[in-house]
Amino acid sequence: MKEKWWHSLVGYQIYPKSFQDSNSDGIGDLPGIIRRLEDLEQLGINMIWICPVYQSPMMDHGYDISDYTKIDPMFGTKEDLKQLISEAKKRGITVIMDLVINHTSSLHPWFQEALKNPEGKYGKYYIIRKGDGEIPPNNWRSLFGGSAWERIGDSDNYYLHLFTVGQPDLNWENEELRKELYRMINDWLELGIGGFRIDAIAHIKKDLSYRNLPPDGPDGLHAGMQWFRNVEGIETYLRELKENTFDRYDCFTLAEVDDIPEERLNAYIGENGYYSSVFDFCHCFHSQLDGKWKGHWKEMLADIRDRVFERQKKMEGKGFFCNYQENHDIIRVPDRFLPKEKQNFHSLSMLPVLYFFLAGIPMIYQGQEIGMTGYPREKIGDYEDLATYNNYQEYLLEGMTPEEALEKINATSRENARTPMQWSSEAYAGFSDVKPWFDVNPDYVTCNVEEQRRPGSLRDFFRKVTALRRDSAYEKTWVYGSFLPQEQETGQIWGFQRSYKGQELIVLVNFTDQPVRTVQAYLIRKVLLDNYERTEKPEQGRNTIMLRPWQALVFESDGSDLI
Ligand code: BGC
Repeated sequence: MKEKWWHSLVGYQIYPKSFQDSNSDGIGDLPGIIRRLEDLEQLGINMIWICPVYQSPMMDHGYDISDYTKIDPMFGTKEDLKQLISEAKKRGITVIMDLVINHTSSLHPWFQEALKNPEGKYGKYYIIRKGDGEIPPNNWRSLFGGSAWERIGDSDNYYLHLFTVGQPDLNWENEELRKELYRMINDWLELGIGGFRIDAIAHIKKDLSYRNLPPDGPDGLHAGMQWFRNVEGIETYLRELKENTFDRYDCFTLAEVDDIPEERLNAYIGENGYYSSVFDFCHCFHSQLDGKWKGHWKEMLADIRDRVFERQKKMEGKGFFCNYQENHDIIRVPDRFLPKEKQNFHSLSMLPVLYFFLAGIPMIYQGQEIGMTGYPREKIGDYEDLATYNNYQEYLLEGMTPEEALEKINATSRENARTPMQWSSEAYAGFSDVKPWFDVNPDYVTCNVEEQRRPGSLRDFFRKVTALRRDSAYEKTWVYGSFLPQEQETGQIWGFQRSYKGQELIVLVNFTDQPVRTVQAYLIRKVLLDNYERTEKPEQGRNTIMLRPWQALVFESDGSDLI
């Protein structure tokens, strides 16, 4: 594989609204990010992805853009962004922005014009179809609940919105629109950003036959994914997009695309793929708080391991997934993977070791490095997110009581991951000096960055993890090395070997609260990372290893002795 500048990125995702307020309005902003660059540099990352900061009415917290060319004043100005880019660069950090081109805000002037004249130029920028009076064109369900169609006034015209009603889908069939988007993308790249995280891009092509489908829920609607995700023919747009924008700047692109059909993986993220890398969701639907995994967290982790390893094998030597455990759309990983009573330094510190040394781009989400968790709300009104409200309504419709519905929301709402960043034990966690837009988790008094500046903290361990991932003595193996699962038969150990040009590195993680002995024998040449202070010397010679509860061990091995 030809080496590229972005292969060795280690990313950190920032949800700007909740990261750091600098102007006392209770909302995080770009100058706030600049103020925290030193902390990020210390953490050892070299790329930040900032969620949307464009002008937006915030119906979906910035994923509904009303002007692609402007920064929303709540986040600052274009000058602030330029300063962020240059300050970050001084610290060796690349900035990537979010790119939301499946839909705009309903307040975007294009859509406002489309509403006035659905047959006109801007009507063709969106997907507007005839329904029959109050009956929409078909029974697709929006990804955020409710019908995917919204009627325009009392006409027969409906517009499609796969997400909230405030996010009309753009019509990618329209070449004029596509060109307009490419111009906008290139303008941002001219500013010096390193690339984009590309939102919801798998949905830009819809199967235009718009079938009515058998209802799959009490709302009479159908989820319809196969008609609007990775639809055949999307490739033409993806290629055109890349050639007209990303390729011209040699930028890094990280697309949000789940469930890529195996035969298309290479076209998506192979050497000349449409994107540099993708987030897939193979572990996002697993939560020990929910559904079939309740009370079975160990089995759940073994299942996730097998899925992740399968993907590693599929892309071995061909391309990179982006590896992550958290983002702004899922609940925090300690809550998802571990029962509360099992959350402690060792169990939390083994979590990053599960994914940081896999092939691919590792990403940390803000607050993950200090072990932030969600906290249950007492009433549904404490949430802000429209998707969360829609889910709540669906649960009621399914027959849950309001208490049961709230309990489920507390266990699943993505807003659990959006509480303000916990910087210190001062009022409002040092995020702001006024009441923030969204309540801080009350555990900030003990769980915060200031407290974790000390050696031996979780954040300190994350620093060791990023340092090892970027250590020039091992980086090539982490980035380009082959991948060989180890101990997969145990159901308790997440283990693998990475090898490159004679160097062999082993990662072994006991993801249970009991000691467990490896099945295979290993030769430990040099311990590189351990979440226990080793009291005894590394075992000499080739031996099986007794892993302590939650132990995460990374070592250099002598390949010739292994297996
Ligand atoms: C983003 C979500 C957003 C949705 C619609 C997702 O992929 O990550 O936060 O609500 O796209 O833009």
